[in-house]
Amino acid sequence: MSILFKGGTVVSAKDRRQVDVRIDGEKIIEMGTNLKTKDSNIVDVSGCFLLPGFIDAHTHLELNNGKGSMGTADNFYTGSKAAVAKGTTTVIDMATPSKGSSLKDCLKVWDQLARGNSSCDYTYHMSIIEWNPSIKAEINEMIDAGITSFKMYMAYDNLRTTDGEIFEAMSEIRKFQGMLGIHCENGDMVNKMIAKFVAEGKRSPHYHPLTRPDSVEAEAVERYLMIADLVGLSVNIVHLSSKRSLEAVQRARARNQKVYVETCPQYLVLDDHLYDGPEFEGAKYVCSPPLRKISDQKALWDGVINGQVNTISTDHCSFNFEGQKTIGKDDFSKIPNGMPGVETRPELIYTYGVTTGKISLERMIGLLSEDIAKQFSMYPQKGIIQVGSDADIVVWDPNTTGIISATTQLQNVDYTPYDGMQTTGSAKSVYLRGQKIAEEGQVVLEKQGKFIFRKSTKNN
Ligand code: URP
Ligand code: ZN
Ligand code: ZN
Ligand code: ZN
Repeated sequence: MSILFKGGTVVSAKDRRQVDVRIDGEKIIEMGTNLKTKDSNIVDVSGCFLLPGFIDAHTHLELNNGKGSMGTADNFYTGSKAAVAKGTTTVIDMATPSKGSSLKDCLKVWDQLARGNSSCDYTYHMSIIEWNPSIKAEINEMIDAGITSFKMYMAYDNLRTTDGEIFEAMSEIRKFQGMLGIHCENGDMVNKMIAKFVAEGKRSPHYHPLTRPDSVEAEAVERYLMIADLVGLSVNIVHLSSKRSLEAVQRARARNQKVYVETCPQYLVLDDHLYDGPEFEGAKYVCSPPLRKISDQKALWDGVINGQVNTISTDHCSFNFEGQKTIGKDDFSKIPNGMPGVETRPELIYTYGVTTGKISLERMIGLLSEDIAKQFSMYPQKGIIQVGSDADIVVWDPNTTGIISATTQLQNVDYTPYDGMQTTGSAKSVYLRGQKIAEEGQVVLEKQGKFIFRKSTKNN
């Protein structure tokens, strides 16, 4: 039985139109004014926006595969439920191999974790944490398996590679028209500053951001973009957090490099005063790059407004405060890095971006859905409400109000960095490939997610 959404306003990154939308099976089959009922089930969506399902291009739902104290609090089952409940219908998760593992084996592990457990559609960025001839030979195989994007790290001793390795990996990824995203921080500098503070007995969360100042990020961004320039590869910068880094990006763009910039809600609505909270509270906000200054926040919003920032994803990487963050009680450098957020991104950006007048709803759709789909080769299957696309539809009620709270959230973690923040607007219902999967913030049909096979331009 087809479904006919009547009376709503369909929004894309470009415009909004008052049209009815008919979906049948997994797809959108007809759009237009005053569509006839035919034999469709009517859903009255007057007063609401119809938005393309949001895409989160940066999650760590299964970092360390849930193993031991450093496994993430969420997994594919809990994290994807939290995602869809609030309108995120697709995630691109960071598949992260252990040392010595092949990319193929990592892909198998992630498929086992996601398949049958995920309530949203999913794909992966394949992390390259070491570089050798066999990993090199696997780049093409990943592309053929539908994984067109990769992730590398310039910080974290267990994950980072050298500049030379990044150079070689970029060259290989370029051959197959893949996309590379990098965590930009100067790992050596971070290590030196951590060692210094710890030796001086400065061990509270207050010191975390001081070991990773904006210069640590901006230097890595500059270096990464120079390497990309040498190779001639268009690249992505994940979780960009500071004004100085954005300036480095603008320098690269001025020399005609194509650079994509992702930022995250935490860098737009939170700031570094939170590390000075009482007791050990600051540990909740330990992530890398760290929360920044109000001046950085302002520069990032300006970038979001003027297009210097391309996408907003979450870097969702949840660790419980009790038992996980507390591992670093006597030494901030042992606090697991990361924060939850896959659930709260749509409401936060709508509230603090759209209702404040900073950005239009159209721009929000670009940042959270359409431009992500385009960048990561999922468009127009995902990212837009148009005939032929997947029927991933968020019925958005602009008039609701709420308060973010750890006690009511679906994320499987004992706190939220946004606790107590007020929100306006929310997903009234959410459809994934034609099926209603969430209503009023609760999941009504779970585990319907499937793997999204992507094609690089190599395959076109
Ligand atoms: O602190 C963070 N961001 N943890 C998640 C891993 C990463 O760096 O993206
Ligand atoms: Zn990172
Ligand atoms: Zn401070
Ligand atoms: Zn991340």
